[in-house]
Amino acid sequence: MSTQNASSTITLRSLQKFKENEEKFACLTAYDACFSSILSEAGVEVILVGDSLGMVLQGHDSTLPVTMTDMIYHTRCVKRGNKGSLIMADLPFMSYASETQTLENAASLMRAGAHVVKLEGGAWISNTTKLLTERGIPVCAHMGLTPQSVNRIGGFHVQGRDTNHAQLIIDEALMLQEAGANILLLECVPRALAKKITGLLKIPVIGIGAGPDTNAQIMVLHDVLGVSPITPKFVKNFLVEGNNSIFQAIEAYVNAVKTKSFPSEEHCFN
Ligand code: KIV
Repeated sequence: MSTQNASSTITLRSLQKFKENEEKFACLTAYDACFSSILSEAGVEVILVGDSLGMVLQGHDSTLPVTMTDMIYHTRCVKRGNKGSLIMADLPFMSYASETQTLENAASLMRAGAHVVKLEGGAWISNTTKLLTERGIPVCAHMGLTPQSVNRIGGFHVQGRDTNHAQLIIDEALMLQEAGANILLLECVPRALAKKITGLLKIPVIGIGAGPDTNAQIMVLHDVLGVSPITPKFVKNFLVEGNNSIFQAIEAYVNAVKTKSFPSEEHCFN
């Protein structure tokens, strides 16, 4: 059951209100107009044009080969199908390495239809966050497991398990909020750490593999529909008996997020 009118328009203020009212909101990736339309009609508040498209659409083993041309193309497609969700688009690997490049690339995503740009990193993206937000481009800072740094990390591993690293993530999250970040996304961190950060921050926190206590959940579309070749611990297939269409599966995901039945213990890291 959807709790959102399909014609409503979600903004950063709406997300902030969700946090203040302690209501969960649902986020999901989409890469084309058809799925974007289904997601917004099913009540998904935030659609992410994720650079995960490099893996789920293009078949690469990481997100590193994704280009700005890819991101602009897919953001345009998603914008055409969208019916009132907030569109977030990823700045891909090495597209925010210098100030000029960052501004040009973020502006291109906004012109293509994004309402928010997402970039990965900790303290080192704090100046970039300030640069963008001061110029009117909302930022979602992606922390924890940052897939664009998979080679430095040495794989897709849970982050912040030891006390020092957990404290570093907390400090950097606060720093990014201070720099102007409008949303924080936490990927693959222990449940207790995500809970602590969500409580400390004023801005909404979206989680994936971060437990049930963040303000929102996000998943990769292909994971929710059970068509991904790999299924990490935090993934749940909603296209199962009882949900007999893609639309019903997406609605079930939205409902599970809002009623806090997803993620459950089996999807959490400790
Ligand atoms: O690119 C993506 O889809 C993401 C999600 C995994 C959060 O960043």
